[in-house]
Amino acid sequence: MKGVVLAGGLGTRLYPLTHATNKHLLPVFDKPMVFYPIQTLVNAGIRDILVVVGGPHAGDFIRVLQNGKEFGIDHLEYAYQQSGDGGIADALKLAEDFSDNGPLTVILGDNCTDADISKEVKNFNDGALIFLKKVHDPHRFGIAEIDPKDKTKVVSIVEKPKKPKGNLAVTGVYIYDSHVFHHISQMKPSARGQLEITDVNNIYIKEGTLRWATLEGYWSDAGTFASLYKTNVFWANKIAGKRLREEPD
Ligand code: DAU
Repeated sequence: MKGVVLAGGLGTRLYPLTHATNKHLLPVFDKPMVFYPIQTLVNAGIRDILVVVGGPHAGDFIRVLQNGKEFGIDHLEYAYQQSGDGGIADALKLAEDFSDNGPLTVILGDNCTDADISKEVKNFNDGALIFLKKVHDPHRFGIAEIDPKDKTKVVSIVEKPKKPKGNLAVTGVYIYDSHVFHHISQMKPSARGQLEITDVNNIYIKEGTLRWATLEGYWSDAGTFASLYKTNVFWANKIAGKRLREEPD
């Protein structure tokens, strides 16, 4: 299985922090944000990784990640999302050649989780697998509605719903078979001008080939000031809670 980290987009929600650097290179405790999603892939046994970058500071990724040897990656590739913020599915489109007609585990560059997805990666066959997590602020995410008669089935996903049907957020961790690129090629940009990953997932739902799993452990994106702060606090406590308390200022 190959892996893709989507770290394109312009990070405008985090202005002024992202005027002079890329959102995914901002610190989450003692590491740049993008280290976390890469580590999630590596922990799942994935050693062949494409990072999709974008925006005016895209070149900085190479200085930070270099050839990925620090993570034990065998092969690290980069792609540049020319469209700026054309959407998550627009960024994923750039992974078509890299995928070599095989399945891909995809993670958003601002998703910081300590979940172990190695079992799902190993057992994946075809279709799509999404990872869900209960949240307190469902209007911020893609929200999945589960079939009350058959809890294994997702009925639909609504992106940033005004009136959410439940609180199960679609996290930015997905596994897709190679049909994903055909699906994206059939899609039109949404009202906000983006190719939406939620539209991709809804196509798999219509086909009857989307499955879901709970993302066990901690999960947060770090794409707003509040979530960036919260994510920093979690990882500071997890990595160095004790050490921080013991160290003098
Ligand atoms: O974090 C989970 C949520 O991520 C999901 O629940 C939503 O369904 C999904 O649409 C997404 O929502 P966000 O509003 O958080 O997406 P955002 O625009 O912040 O982009 C998240 C990451 O995706 C970003 O850090 C890099 C990548 N991205 C995004 C865009 C818009 C790209 O690579 N290219 C892009 O054009």
